[in-house]
Amino acid sequence: MLSVNTKNIIKTTIPVLEQHGVAITKTFYSNMLSENPDFLNTFNQVNQKKGRQPTALAMTVLAAAKNVDNLSVLLPTVKQIGHKHRALQIKPEQYDIVGHYLLLAIKEVLGTAATPEIINAWTETYKVIADIFISVENELYKEAAWPGWQPFVVSEKINVADQIVEFVVKPTSECGVDLSKLNIVPGQYLTVKTHPTTHDNKHDALRHYSICSASTENGLKFAVKYEHGVEQDGLVSEYLHKCIKTGDTIGISAPAGDFELSKELISQDKIPLVLISAGVGTTPLVAMLECQLQQNPKRPILWIQSSKNEQSQAFKTHVENLLSKFEGSVDSKFIHTDSMPRIDGDLLEKTIPSNSDVYICGSVEFMSILIVTLKNLGHQNQMVHYEPFGPKMSL
Ligand SMILES: Cc1cc2nc3c(=O)[nH]c(=O)nc-3n(C[C@H](O)[C@H](O)[C@H](O)COP(=O)(O)OP(=O)(O)OC[C@H]3O[C@@H](n4cnc5c(N)ncnc54)[C@H](O)[C@@H]3O)c2cc1C
Ligand code: HEM
Repeated sequence: MLSVNTKNIIKTTIPVLEQHGVAITKTFYSNMLSENPDFLNTFNQVNQKKGRQPTALAMTVLAAAKNVDNLSVLLPTVKQIGHKHRALQIKPEQYDIVGHYLLLAIKEVLGTAATPEIINAWTETYKVIADIFISVENELYKEAAWPGWQPFVVSEKINVADQIVEFVVKPTSECGVDLSKLNIVPGQYLTVKTHPTTHDNKHDALRHYSICSASTENGLKFAVKYEHGVEQDGLVSEYLHKCIKTGDTIGISAPAGDFELSKELISQDKIPLVLISAGVGTTPLVAMLECQLQQNPKRPILWIQSSKNEQSQAFKTHVENLLSKFEGSVDSKFIHTDSMPRIDGDLLEKTIPSNSDVYICGSVEFMSILIVTLKNLGHQNQMVHYEPFGPKMSL
């Protein structure tokens, strides 16, 4: 339990944190990674360069400080971050190392303003926050379908659109994963561990990829977009596209994430299911569409998919085929941004009934716009679900 005095000190640091939050976490990462080079096998280096992870962490620390009187309100957020941590195989002992460097960074950035009282209050508060994360993650480790990283063989690579390749992977005999016993939750992601040998890379690289089929009959499936960059192509997507061949083995940790169809609504046919995606963000939504079709084909469906053009429209034939099998009302909009206006408030207002159960997936930028637009149109928060292909906190 934190004392009243500690909580008061924490509260007084909020304005300072708001001013220096990002600087604190940037300093923290650079110190921690330079003194613990092994962590380079866990953290995404490009996220560091682009400042994405520092922003996510800074916001989490601020949220914690703002809720110091009642840290339990953080639980839903902690659970969602915990899924990512569990998928990346973050372990309790690593929290002490992170805490050490976070506190050092607070000291360094605040300079003379960092009194021993402030540092002590933050040391205590970090410990309480870390314990909440550790206990949530402990449960997620228990629930995971398999422990650690397991070797899977790539059995097929299939082009599902321009620059998007679907990977079908099967567990190797030594890993002991039995796909026939695996309960896939459409919307969840796999985390893939590779060791790219390109761009002078010397570290393991971990990336999340949404499961793109509800079926495990032929293997687990995920689809990867080749990320072309102005300065450099994406490390893992390039490696998976160009270097990983069928027959090669990659490490995969058990499915994770809390993006899933609302269970109570699958079996009814009054509240429509609306699936909105952009680019490769279609992946989890295809698995959801398959699942809805299997469990209740009578439910009204609205499918909105944005892509650059027809060639980059992922799973085109498969999605059309699935949509044709529904027995209730089906509406679909395929937006090709090369030649058509982008998804906007007008389209959403005209096509989405206000009582819909909405699932959105795409880039952080795409989703930020859609979430705000739907809110302005009167959609309730709990009926709008989303999975950004980047840190969820940045939304
Ligand atoms: C929950 C979740 C699910 C996801 N599901 C999918 C999915 O189903 N399919 C999918 O394709 N992706 C998915 N992603 C995204 C995926 O995890 C990776 O982020 C993506 O593949 C890019 O990784 P990368 O290693 O290729 O790019 P990175 O090397 O991480 O680079 C990211 C971007 O930065 C650019 N870049 C690289 N190096 C530099 C540099 N030095 N300077 C400036 N820019 C640079 C790259 O061109 C690229 O655009 C998902 C992400 C999350 C969080
Ligand atoms: C209380 C302490 C911590 C907080 C508040 C925190 C917060 C966060 C947040 C907000 C994210 C982004 C989640 C998202 O993508 O939606 C994240 C991701 C991540 N965290 Fe933590 N974290 C903590 C501890 C740790 C520890 C101990 C480690 C282990 C070294 C760790 C490693 C990572 C990694 C590797 C990512 C993925 C992002 C990347 O690769 O850049 N975190 N964390």
